Amino acid sequence: MSDQAIIETREVSKNYELGSAKIIVLRGITLSVNAGETVSIMGASGSGKSTLLHLLGGLDKPTGGDVLFEGVNLRSVSNAKRTELRATAIGFVFQSYHLLNELDIVENIMLPAMSRPTALLRREQIRKRALDLLGRVGLGDRAKHRPLELSGGEQQRAAIARALMNEPRLLLADEPTGNLDSKTGDQVLEYLFALTRERGHTLVMVTHNEAVAQLCSRRLVLRDGVLQS
Ligand SMILES: Nc1ncnc2c1ncn2[C@@H]1O[C@H](COP(=O)(O)OP(=O)(O)OP(=O)(O)O)[C@@H](O)[C@H]1O
Ligand SMILES: [Mg+2]
Repeated sequence: MSDQAIIETREVSKNYELGSAKIIVLRGITLSVNAGETVSIMGASGSGKSTLLHLLGGLDKPTGGDVLFEGVNLRSVSNAKRTELRATAIGFVFQSYHLLNELDIVENIMLPAMSRPTALLRREQIRKRALDLLGRVGLGDRAKHRPLELSGGEQQRAAIARALMNEPRLLLADEPTGNLDSKTGDQVLEYLFALTRERGHTLVMVTHNEAVAQLCSRRLVLRDGVLQS
């Protein structure tokens, strides 16, 4: 492992078996991302970008090879530990925002922090931080609204605030602007990059957009199951 690798993959492969059919998606991905790096992953639809991002975040397990988070092999940790790692160290931003409409916006943002022990005692503190993050993504006046009362771009900004709630050391974003028009998308990205840089977060982002990829310090392309730089 290189000294400051936050996330590392070694010869990671992923197949899906559907009946007798076997779909080989990833054929041997070896990647090391250092703390503070911003990395984009491009590639054709179906090339395995989301699959790879899920493996990096411990949401799914590789068929072969290893994924290491801060030097810890995810294969060697219990499911409970992996869940804890995801909840405390990794933030996800998905293409579809995954906000809960049963909760208002500020409650959605508080959610990742509320699953921690002692959260109830710190509820006011957590709420304050959630409101602060909401302000940072330009939604300070929408705290009491339900997600579906917000535009797509606003919902995605809320999702970014939620992903940052627990100060993740690794932020994984899967086409965070894929559902937005280009102007709204640019605005969302501005927030994403400003907050990422300011806090020194590590970002791995899937995108279809070359201009978006250019914003990252490293650009990779997934093709035929392998990564090319
Ligand atoms: N749970 C699954 N079962 C079977 N096949 C799957 C599963 N998930 C993904 N696949 C297949 O794996 C391949 C890669 O899918 P993936 O979602 O990673 O692609 P992608 O690069 O993110 O595409 P897009 O740009 O369209 O989001 C596709 O052929 C897909 O059909
Ligand atoms: Mg995808």
